[in-house]
Amino acid sequence: MKGVILAGGLGTRLFPLTKITNKHLLPVYDRPMIYYPIESLVRAGVEDIMIVTGGQNSGEFLRLLGNGSDFGLKHLNYTYQEGEGGIAEALGLARHWAGGDRLCVVLGDNLIENNIRGAVEDFRAQQKGAKIIVKEVPDPERFGVTRITDGVVGEIVEKPKEPDTNLAVIGIYMYDERVFDVIDTLVPSARGEMEITDVNNWYVREGSMTHDVLEGWWTDAGTFQSLHRAADLVARGGANKVD
Ligand code: DAU
Repeated sequence: MKGVILAGGLGTRLFPLTKITNKHLLPVYDRPMIYYPIESLVRAGVEDIMIVTGGQNSGEFLRLLGNGSDFGLKHLNYTYQEGEGGIAEALGLARHWAGGDRLCVVLGDNLIENNIRGAVEDFRAQQKGAKIIVKEVPDPERFGVTRITDGVVGEIVEKPKEPDTNLAVIGIYMYDERVFDVIDTLVPSARGEMEITDVNNWYVREGSMTHDVLEGWWTDAGTFQSLHRAADLVARGGANKVD
């Protein structure tokens, strides 16, 4: 399985912090934000990684990460997203590199306390389809929200004004090799983006979407509040703990 980290976008919710740098280069306590999703993949046993960046500071990723030796990697792959066409568009840029392999996709602003190795191994054994990771949160209206009924993943609703449940879909997704064909069928949403939730709902409709419930904390870091929270959580006990 290969790993893709999505670190494009303009990070406008963090203006003016992101006026002269990429959101994923900002500090989260003692490390740049991008370190955390890389560690999440490496600790889950995914070591062939592509980073999708964008904006005016993408060159800084090379200077910061190089070939990934700080993470014990022999090599890192990079690609560039023009503009901010959405998470699914950014993922689409990894098509050629993925070369028909399965993927574990991590959003560049998502941090987790524990290891996702178990979920990744379960997905390796899954015949086909996709896997999401869910977590109960106090503010589901900020995320993709779903319902699990008798173990079956229901339709995911992106940022519902009045969520039916408090079960958020976190920014770690696993896909079989058909994901790029699914992306080809998408149309931009009302906010003008190719939505990862539309990709996920394709697999939900097919009945091939499985899920895992995340143990330990999870946070994004794309708003002032969540960036602050992320730093606080890391300072208190660290992220990507090995179990
Ligand atoms: O954090 C989990 C949530 O992430 C999910 O629950 C939502 O379903 C999903 O849509 C997403 O929501 P956000 O609106 O918070 O995503 P955001 O626009 O902040 O993008 C998250 C990361 O994805 C960002 O740090 C970099 C990457 N990205 C995003 C866009 C829009 C790209 O690489 N390219 C893009 O064009």
